Formats: sequence, structure tokens, C-alpha cells
Amino acid sequence: MTTPTNYVPGLAGIPATESSISYIDGQAGILEYRGIPIEELAEKSTFEETAYLLLYGKLPSQSELDGFRERLSARRALPDRLIETLRLLPGAGHPMLGLQVGVAILGMHSQRVNLRDPESMENAAIKILGSVPSLVAAVERARTGLDFVQPKDGMDTAEAFLWMMSGEDPAPVAVRALDAALILHAEHTMNASTFTSRVVASSESDPYSVCAAAIGTLKGPLHGGANERVLDQLEAIGEVENVRPWVEERLSHKGKVMGFGHRVYKTKDPRSNILQDLGNRVFEELGGTPMYELALELERVMDEKVGHKGICPNVDFFSGLLYQKLGIPTDLFTPIFAIARVSGYMAHWLEQMPDNRIFRPTQVYTGAREASYVPMSERD
Ligand code: COA
Repeated sequence: MTTPTNYVPGLAGIPATESSISYIDGQAGILEYRGIPIEELAEKSTFEETAYLLLYGKLPSQSELDGFRERLSARRALPDRLIETLRLLPGAGHPMLGLQVGVAILGMHSQRVNLRDPESMENAAIKILGSVPSLVAAVERARTGLDFVQPKDGMDTAEAFLWMMSGEDPAPVAVRALDAALILHAEHTMNASTFTSRVVASSESDPYSVCAAAIGTLKGPLHGGANERVLDQLEAIGEVENVRPWVEERLSHKGKVMGFGHRVYKTKDPRSNILQDLGNRVFEELGGTPMYELALELERVMDEKVGHKGICPNVDFFSGLLYQKLGIPTDLFTPIFAIARVSGYMAHWLEQMPDNRIFRPTQVYTGAREASYVPMSERD
């Protein structure tokens, strides 16, 4: 085999798979799940229906949707021993690490998944999807020294998560906004964490390992972790009049402004527009936030400075402001992203496994060749 020389950093533009789950046109700002525009799903669908669409490739009938919701709801209760283990984790650690641990322990409490049996795989995907909201809530309760709040029957993901996190019945506007945000975060073609999930799956590892590894990638500030950094950034800027000098200083040494830029979108991320509208609706009902004015000024100044290079607001820019208004702690923003995105990971897993081949790319070797071992006594 000859050594390839066409190395592309970050694999930009290199297809890593064939997939029929989602589609992006980065120039036109289009995102579709199974062909349906994200705007339509955010307005008319629910997270459960969208997750069904991603996993099964079609919109469900009413009875299919009811059955799917029941199966997810039945998976929300966590084993006592898992909850006890989460209590032993260091409280100051990042909840994304707690979630990784929780998903791995969930796998230890689960039957071996038979990768040749579609039913066994479907059951595992539903178990993960149903349990991850509980795991995030359990990690949050454990680190704050509070008891786990048992899930209630009949609650869908958004409502169940807000209930289990706080122990209080959430406002309908909060449930609807979080539900729509989950739809927007559910899937996004071959992003870094979905690629991770496919690589792990390709070794025929189990779906718990697939999700735990992908959650590790999602945590990074260049990926899902950007949403919490956006809020830190707005807090650091402080006042509207500080925005312009802050941006100029940051760009002068090629610093990144969190919540802007995307490998694929060269226009405003369509999810960002929808999140902004959702945020506005929530602010109208639950009261505004001064940070929103800061965010709008940041968007204006960034557009003026780097908009022509296609560096525009991405999905993480407005989500943090919305989640903050829903009473969610900043470092839970990325775990919420994970609650949604495991539906994408599992859709890719179900798609990949029937025709799987282990990922084994190559490299361009830049090191020494045919060197000799030097005994310790002869080294400098
Ligand atoms: N702020 C300022 N400049 C940015 C930028 C940002 N958020 N994102 C990209 N750029 C600039 C880079 O400095 C680089 O400039 P140059 O060509 O003059 O060197 C150019 O745009 C290309 O950036 P690069 O980092 O190579 O693009 P990428 O496709 O590898 O990275 C991201 C994409 C998302 C990782 C990148 O835009 C980023 O780090 N954004 C901030 C983090 C974030 O919000 N992530 C969430 C993504 S949904």
C-alpha cells in the first residue's frame, strides 16, 4: 500500500460514511432530519416524535408514538446502586464526566446486546434514550447532596428532566421551549461526537461505550461545550459598551469567540434562529435577561468584523441564555445537549451495524526510520 499524501487536517470535507439520517447545506443554512426541515420539526413535532423519526426513518403513527413514549418513560427509573455510585463521585467535577460514568454504569447493569439481533439493539437504544435524562438529573442531585427525584409516569423527556432536576413541576412554556431545543440538538450529520460514536461502534463495542465515548467528545469547547462558554463569555464582557473593545481585543490575537463559526455552516446556523425565537417567547412569559442585549450587540459586532468570512452564530450562541432562564445551571447545558444527541448517536449506530466495517484510517508518517536502540550508558 503506498503512503497517501492528501492529508486533510480535521478530515474537513472527507466523507466518513454514507447516511440517510440528516442533511446539511452549509451555504444555504439548511438542516433536515430524514428530509424534513428542522424549522418544521421545531414548530410541529415533539422530541419523542423526532427521536422516533431519527431511529426508525419515518414519522410514527399515533399508536407507534404512544408505544415509543411509554417505552422511554418505562426506562427512566435508575437502579439504586447506580444512584448510590453517582453520589460517590467528586461533587466539583464536571457533570459531563459524571454522565459518562453514569452511562458506563448503566451498561454494567444491562444485558449483553446482541449486535446480530435488531430487537436487542432497539431495546438498548430505547433504554439509553430513556435513561440519559434521569442520569443527568441524578448527577445534578448527587453533587448538590439532594435525593434523586423519582420520574413520574406520563411525562415526556423535557418535562421529566426538569421535574427530576428540580423536584418541581415545570412551567408549560419551559417544557415546550426545552422540548424544541432538544429537537434542534438531536442530530447533526458527521460532527465530531457522532464520528466518535461511529468509530467506537465499528469495533463492535456495546452501545453504552458508544455513547460514553461520544459524550466525552461532545464535552469539548469546540463542540457541545461551547454553550456554557458563551455564558461565561457574556458574563466576562459585562456591559453592552464593552462588547466592541472585547471583540477587537480577542480577534487581534486570533482568539475564538464562543458560539460563532462552524465547520459546515457559512451562514447563520438555522438552529440559532429558532433558539433565538424560542428564547424571545420564554423571556416574554418568564421575564427578560440583560444578557440578551449583550448577545445581540455581540452578534452585531461579530457580523461587522468577521461576518464576511462566514463566521456567524451557531447553535450554542442562544441556547445558554434560554437554559439559564429555565433555571438550569451553566455546567448542565452540555449534558442537556447530550440528552438530545444520544438519539442521533443511536440512529447512527442502528444504521451502521448491519453493514459495519471497523474504522481503520491511515496516517502520514513524519518520524524517523530504521533508527538503532542506544543503550542507556551511551545516551546524552
Ligand atoms: N471566533 C473567531 N474566529 C473564528 C471563529 C470564532 N468563533 N471560528 C472560526 N474563526 C476563524 C479562525 O480563526 C480561522 O481564521 P483564519 O483563517 O484567519 O486562520 C478561520 O475562522 C477558520 O477557523 P477554524 O477554527 O480553522 O475552523 P474549523 O472549521 O476548524 O472550526 C469551529 C470550526 C466550530 C471549531 C470554530 O468555528 C470554533 O472554534 N468556534 C468557536 C467554538 C464554538 O462555538 N463551537 C461550537 C460549534 S457548533
